[in-house]
Amino acid sequence: MGELNAGLLSSKAHISPKYFYDAQGSRLFDAITALDEYYPTRTEAAIFDSDATEISRVIPTRAVLIDLGAGNCAKAERLFPILNPDAYLAVDISSEFLFEALQGLGQRHPELPRYALAMDFSARFELSDSSTAWLAEKGLDDRPRVVFYPGSSIGNFAPHEALGLLQQVRAVCAAAGPGGGLLIGVDRVKSRTVLEAAYDDALGVTAAFNLNLLRHLNRVLGADFVLAHWKHVAFYCDHKSRIEMHLESLCEQTVRWPGAERLFRTGERIHTEHSYKWRPQDFQTLLTQAGFTSTEHWTDAEQWFSVFWATA
Ligand SMILES: C[S@@+](CC[C@H](N)C(=O)[O-])C[C@H]1O[C@@H](n2cnc3c(N)ncnc32)[C@H](O)[C@@H]1O
Repeated sequence: MGELNAGLLSSKAHISPKYFYDAQGSRLFDAITALDEYYPTRTEAAIFDSDATEISRVIPTRAVLIDLGAGNCAKAERLFPILNPDAYLAVDISSEFLFEALQGLGQRHPELPRYALAMDFSARFELSDSSTAWLAEKGLDDRPRVVFYPGSSIGNFAPHEALGLLQQVRAVCAAAGPGGGLLIGVDRVKSRTVLEAAYDDALGVTAAFNLNLLRHLNRVLGADFVLAHWKHVAFYCDHKSRIEMHLESLCEQTVRWPGAERLFRTGERIHTEHSYKWRPQDFQTLLTQAGFTSTEHWTDAEQWFSVFWATA
């Protein structure tokens, strides 16, 4: 709770985007991916479809597929036919949603060993002792590890934080059989109009997703946020190449939670997310700095989104 207190009480209030994801937040994110304005999901899927042969050529099959921020596990499941993994390890902070998703996947793929690792990887990503023991028990501990990190979730990390996470991912891959690596989806710098629409859709689903964070805080922190007193704000910040999402106070109000309170003035904001957009050459450099060796890169016809494979 220290992290939440510090963020809410800071002069410019901020909350980590990981707090979007209670079970309701995960469902709202799924709804976002189906919106006309939200191009990343369908664009990334189109790249996986059009470049499937090439992707399957460079990525080891019969690997342990580790899905970082697995959500509903659907993206990884669509890749099973080309990656042909021998085990699936799904990692997510939204534990209830993750267990449900993995149960559904188990009904469709009963033969595939699967493991749910409920954890917060924002501070540090490493496999838990129980998950490595599970791999050993299945005789899979020396298989190549393929970490799958789709949807440009890496954009939630500032570049220096992204570097730290990529270094940890590389270490997880390098700790097992040769040939492992990272398959990652990265959103690219593009027109402000396209970007801002994707984070402020006409139906208001992204607004609901952002506001749901306050509901989540009311539950985990015991706070008394009134959702109707806040509005969703999203804009592209050119010089930082990032979308910013905020919640803006519609009135002067005091929010209370055990041991603390804060006055928010009309128009004051809580920063809830940034989503960095990348130029491919800069992301390639980041992968090299993180210690990955060879990289491959695929994109769509409009060059809106990139998929990278980086060998650990
Ligand atoms: C943008 S969604 C992507 C879901 C899915 N992979 C996709 O691309 O459709 C981000 C996912 O990462 C999870 N997540 C966010 N922050 C996390 C953290 N710090 N640790 C673990 N999982 C996290 C969320 O619960 C959510 O399922």
